[in-house]
Amino acid sequence: MSTRGLILGIESSCDETAAAVVERGSRTLSSVVASQIATHARYGGVVPELASREHLRAIVPVVRGALAQAGVTLADIDAIAVTAGPGLAGALLVGVTYAKALAFAQGLPLVAVNHLEGHIHAVLLNEREISKNCDPERSVAESKDLPPVDEPALALVVSGGHTHLFLACPAHGAQNQTWTYSLVGRTLDDAAGEAYDKVAKLLGFGYPGGPWIDALARFGNPKAVPFAFSQIKTKLHLAGKAPRTKAAITAPIADLDSHFLFSFSGIKTAVLRYVELNNLRDEAQARALRLFAPGAEAGPPQSKKEALALCPQQVLDLIASFQCAVVGDLMKKSFAAAESLGARRILITGGVAANRELRARFTAEAARRGLCVSFPTLSLSTDNAAMIAAAAWPRFQSGEFADQSLSGNPSLALGR
Ligand code: KG4
Ligand code: ZN
Repeated sequence: MSTRGLILGIESSCDETAAAVVERGSRTLSSVVASQIATHARYGGVVPELASREHLRAIVPVVRGALAQAGVTLADIDAIAVTAGPGLAGALLVGVTYAKALAFAQGLPLVAVNHLEGHIHAVLLNEREISKNCDPERSVAESKDLPPVDEPALALVVSGGHTHLFLACPAHGAQNQTWTYSLVGRTLDDAAGEAYDKVAKLLGFGYPGGPWIDALARFGNPKAVPFAFSQIKTKLHLAGKAPRTKAAITAPIADLDSHFLFSFSGIKTAVLRYVELNNLRDEAQARALRLFAPGAEAGPPQSKKEALALCPQQVLDLIASFQCAVVGDLMKKSFAAAESLGARRILITGGVAANRELRARFTAEAARRGLCVSFPTLSLSTDNAAMIAAAAWPRFQSGEFADQSLSGNPSLALGR
């Protein structure tokens, strides 16, 4: 076994098959992601059976690619880390089974990683790489003056499957990378990325919807459609029950502060109503036919002219208003939670953290409040395996290994 502290991370929880080699949780030697976007785009969302099949196809070449890109062989690897949940059952099964077989065959320890903790470590990995000055990709962490790393941070994990707020506390001081988590807030229904994807589908765009909405919102008037978020109250009949979402089942919501709970299914329905009332449905269907016609290769537009060629100003205004409302709600609750918990630092991660308006508005508001906000680089924001290998490092150091009975848990919770 080498002494380099090399962890091979494997991620297959949703629609990306990914493998990466990370040294000591702080230096990415390789990160390979095989995206299934082309497979799922026409369905407007991830089809679980297709995802499992694509993972089966991709996992061997992706792992080989990650080893080759890092310039190492399996003999150089010290441990295998794998996403054990939450995620799609069949998708998790492929990664977990492959990782167990590889660990057994190589006589290597196996580390099980929670996908949500992985997303949080995407920001931490990025910060460590910046501080070591070895990040080959331009840094997008927005603040230079980080508070000491032994302070608690508020983490917003915002993706297609999750919208969770955690208080993340470093367990043993600055040098140790072990963190503990407590759940502070979460969505009661759809995740924010899910709302992006459903609204995009409704308007005739492809999957994933986030990049389309992100690109188009710049050309619309965010005040055109006044979407309101009502304050969410913890309903008595939900006391003691877990929220109804496809993501992780965590603590009953009754003991969470209702000010830190999210709900994104209402705004999705409001967009649907707007589309119906304004007779925009046929126009959206015609766009879908155009975008998904054989040979069509349209990506999100880069200029107002391209945007207007794709949809009328009224739809651009609707998109801008939708995004403005969602980002506003994420901001309101995240900053309220940070203030209430005394966190001077906010980590924002997950696919939606790639959103330009979200980054700009969080950064401006954090500066106004004297707080520090950090995001991962764009490639670390969406699903990847470098974050899984980075999250595994402290567990590897403390000998927290999984055995061959490990199985994927679609509802794996993080924190209490
Ligand atoms: O983290 P991720 O790759 O997978 C999950 O764990 O869910 O996140 C994917 C989600 C999708 O819902 C996608 O639409 C959204 O992230 N997303 C974005 C952007 N890029 C990806 N949402 C808003 N703006 C973006 N630029
Ligand atoms: Zn994710």
